[in-house]
Amino acid sequence: MSWRDFWNGEHAIYVSSRHKTLHYRRIATDLIVHIPSPGATVLDHGCGEALDASRVAAACGRLYLCEAAPTVREKLRGQFGRLERIVVVSPEEVAALPEATLDLVVANSLIQYLSRDELTTLLATWHAKLAPGGALVVADVIPPDVSPLTDATQLLAFGWRGGFFLAALAGLVRTVFSDYRKLRAQYGLSTYTPEALGDLLRAAGFVDVQRPSNFGHNPHRMTFKALRPA
Ligand SMILES: C[S@@+](CC[C@H](N)C(=O)[O-])C[C@H]1O[C@@H](n2cnc3c(N)ncnc32)[C@H](O)[C@@H]1O
Repeated sequence: MSWRDFWNGEHAIYVSSRHKTLHYRRIATDLIVHIPSPGATVLDHGCGEALDASRVAAACGRLYLCEAAPTVREKLRGQFGRLERIVVVSPEEVAALPEATLDLVVANSLIQYLSRDELTTLLATWHAKLAPGGALVVADVIPPDVSPLTDATQLLAFGWRGGFFLAALAGLVRTVFSDYRKLRAQYGLSTYTPEALGDLLRAAGFVDVQRPSNFGHNPHRMTFKALRPA
């Protein structure tokens, strides 16, 4: 099984429906902060089920939801297909978008599942699709020194605050026996130091690399914001 198969299949990455709801609510809130104007064209790349996408769409002019997993794209089309401002796309369809037409590209919790070469290719695509002055936000990036134990304690803390602590505890026990843990052990997750990711962003032509607060519940991971030069 590959990461692609994992995301395309049934998985229990969210420990309960409350966890999933609170997760996507938080990600949408964190994304909206970066929308530059009410008419902006936004791409959420690797969006997952994006349960709160209608709230994001209400804060911009057009929202592209990009998912590599066909089963997730079907769910997204089922949920948001009738909303005029939301367009569900595959990575291939992102590559075919007209150049210089996006105002904001966001990728939350994505690049840890990509090889460095895949990330370099995506950075070039995002740079080409962003309008001059447009922004790229890459969020939930894992630094090399953050252990799975830190991820576990952050999930428990989120569960405690969000009222799903026991589900989080049970979910962590299930994780030990899950495909996710096996894949993480087999392939690992891509991690970056701030310097390494900054260098990759600049090599792809981005400027003004900043470190706003991280999306989601885990402050031990990192968010980077960079601009396509105006
Ligand atoms: C950890 S989930 C993150 C989902 C969402 N961004 C969030 O923050 O909850 C990663 C998602 O990225 C998708 N994905 C992986 N590689 C991708 C790629 N190259 N292009 C688009 N989506 C991808 C997976 O199918 C999965 O749904």
